[in-house]
Amino acid sequence: MPIRTIIEPFRIKSVEPIRWTTRNQREQLLRDAHGNLFLLPADDVLIDLLTDSGTGAMSTYQWGAIMEGDESYAGSKSYNRFRDSIQDIFGYRHVIPTHQGRAAERILFNVMVKRGQIVPNNTHFDTTRANLEFVGGVAMDLVIAEGKQPSLKHPFKGNMDVAALETVIEREGRDKIPLVMLTVTNNSGGGQPVSMQNAKAVSAVCRKHGIPLYFDACRFAENAYFIKLREPGYENKTPKEIAQEMFRLGDGCTMSAKKDGMANIGGFLCTNDDILAQQEKDLLILTEGYPTYGGLAGRDLEAIAVGVQEAVDVDYLRYRIASTAYLGNHISERGVPIVQPPGGHAIYLDARAFVPHIPLEQFPGVALANELYLEGGIRSVEIGSLMFGKAAKMDLVRLAIPRRTYTQSHIDYVIEVILEVWRKRDQIRGLTLAYEPPFLRHFTARFEMPG
Ligand SMILES: Cc1ncc(COP(=O)(O)O)c(C=O)c1O
Repeated sequence: MPIRTIIEPFRIKSVEPIRWTTRNQREQLLRDAHGNLFLLPADDVLIDLLTDSGTGAMSTYQWGAIMEGDESYAGSKSYNRFRDSIQDIFGYRHVIPTHQGRAAERILFNVMVKRGQIVPNNTHFDTTRANLEFVGGVAMDLVIAEGKQPSLKHPFKGNMDVAALETVIEREGRDKIPLVMLTVTNNSGGGQPVSMQNAKAVSAVCRKHGIPLYFDACRFAENAYFIKLREPGYENKTPKEIAQEMFRLGDGCTMSAKKDGMANIGGFLCTNDDILAQQEKDLLILTEGYPTYGGLAGRDLEAIAVGVQEAVDVDYLRYRIASTAYLGNHISERGVPIVQPPGGHAIYLDARAFVPHIPLEQFPGVALANELYLEGGIRSVEIGSLMFGKAAKMDLVRLAIPRRTYTQSHIDYVIEVILEVWRKRDQIRGLTLAYEPPFLRHFTARFEMPG
């Protein structure tokens, strides 16, 4: 019989101890953090599933490359290696390094978007929406209807509604839409992939109207692997070939290398447009740094150059997608409502179905995330009414899996904690907001906590 167990395709060379706390301690710690898990000291978290962004483990090859970092201010060799590795996969003419994804977004929107213009996306991520709104743009989410129904199974729930895109362009006029974006995979919509067929259709509409198409490429490798698994005609292509094909459909991308760049920091902005690239580099110099480092150290550029290639490795992606599904399948088969099917980088609990007795004004997702911490020291994040306010279509609790960081027994522990919280779900109470900042309020909001 063929061996079916999928194992971690690495062995561990260096370990980082994690620390237990008691429930009593966690109650006090959560009070001190004003009920906001972002405000907890990380040391008081046992399993940190707050984000998969920058929290992964780097490989020996990445650490080796780091030692070769060329820290020259201008013309660094590390930039050339970074650019060549990225162009090999993404194919765009200009590769502009940034300190992380949101810096690429800020520069892109500053250069391309005027006040009152609209940017359609399948679903804008929080930083994407915030950066767009900051320059006066209007973020429009056009994910397909299936993408808004958490329990519905569909292979490509991240797809954009192409008919809705056409309608918006006809209604508003081409001049009101400076660019269209596609987020692969769709983080805020449950880490769900976009099919190649959908990307082709969106690209065709954009080309017909002369509108540039940009990818939010943070999880491009996971998206490519889902296409390999689920889209007819792609089963024999490598994830890299699939990614290359997808990027050819666009004019550029924003990227946080903290995800499928397999690095702890970094990002980039790509474009094929020479004039835009010049304007983007001018802005880059103002706030990020010279165009051959863009706010990063030479060693960071090296880690990313190696990391993007490791991200498209088929053995890594098989393990990555299978281990995320393992968590999702084990809790959903016991009745826990999750966004189906399991996404690439995270499992999303459907808080509206998990704690239906908590009204949206009392943040069901935050209440559930806090309970997971109290029960087992697990940190997750709400993606819902706190993060997006009234624009929230769902209230989700995201359990993001850092890359190559936790083992199967860590995940078995997480499963046990979630099932215990599920058993006691009727006792979970809603929360009242005590303070909110003017934007991206979820990072620093505070809640009223019992004394
Ligand atoms: C889809 C998506 N876009 C953009 C970003 C922003 O990237 P960064 O955190 O590096 O600024 C993220 C980060 O989580 C993301 O998931």
